[in-house]
Amino acid sequence: MSDIASRNKARIAQQFSRAANTYNSAADVQLDIAFDAMAYVPSHYKNGLDIGCGTGRISQQLAARCDNLVAMDLAFGMLAYAKQNSLGGDPSICWLQGDADCLPMADNSVDMVFSSMALQWSDNQQKVMSEIARVMASGSNAILAIMCDGSFNQLNDSWQTIDSQRHVNNLASAQTWYDAAKSQGLQVTMQEKQYVTWHQNIRQLLSSIKSIGANVLLTHQYSTEQTRLESKNVFNRHTLQYLETFYQQKYAESMQLPLTYQVCFLQCRKYPPTWD
Ligand SMILES: C[S@@+](CC[C@H](N)C(=O)[O-])C[C@H]1O[C@@H](n2cnc3c(N)ncnc32)[C@H](O)[C@@H]1O
Repeated sequence: MSDIASRNKARIAQQFSRAANTYNSAADVQLDIAFDAMAYVPSHYKNGLDIGCGTGRISQQLAARCDNLVAMDLAFGMLAYAKQNSLGGDPSICWLQGDADCLPMADNSVDMVFSSMALQWSDNQQKVMSEIARVMASGSNAILAIMCDGSFNQLNDSWQTIDSQRHVNNLASAQTWYDAAKSQGLQVTMQEKQYVTWHQNIRQLLSSIKSIGANVLLTHQYSTEQTRLESKNVFNRHTLQYLETFYQQKYAESMQLPLTYQVCFLQCRKYPPTWD
């Protein structure tokens, strides 16, 4: 892994760890998305894997449908919170620190892979999908909800009227994720859905992103200034005022500011190899 990629991962882990205590109360839309993804999960399976489990609130529901669940996350702080808050320390869940790009699991060992709102943090869709396909047992399913291109478009558009820097991450398109899954020989069905959250003002909108730990701007070049601004969330009053004015004029409805989450749902199935 390049230096920049590992630095990005460390920053992702750090920000999500910091947000562990505020995540559940701020992450309503993430819960809606995870519930929509859960609708595709089979009612029973043996060994499950939840990639990017966060505070573990969905892992507990997944564990109720299987014999063993590995709930994995990059952020140690998220795992510590999840473990502490798991009902009676559920023995069927194994909490594990790990990276979606390099799953700490044996080949063909998982009967159901689940992931909601985590995989967009990887910048290597091929690698993630090859890892998922590798650990899936023959005949198993993967249910993946991934934030994709088109998300936060109002925020990105508003920032662009202020400066030429990127303030919102570039996300892969739903088609890129679909193609990456297909290229692993998986059978794939995809749906897309938009979710919109509404905010009273720009501070509240930005803080809705920060309280869930998603305020990490992935860099392709390392910049200490960028990291400093991000960690302190230093935008001066005038910049925020300008951002809010543009956002209000262009997007507000009934004085509320919308923020769009564009999500693709991939249902993947791994078939046994054919010998012809
Ligand atoms: C928005 S939260 C979603 C948590 C949970 N799945 C939910 O729906 O509430 C994203 C989670 O993905 C984790 N994450 C980000 N990149 C990851 C990676 N490469 N491997 C594993 N987990 C990752 C973050 O640490 C964070 O806990």
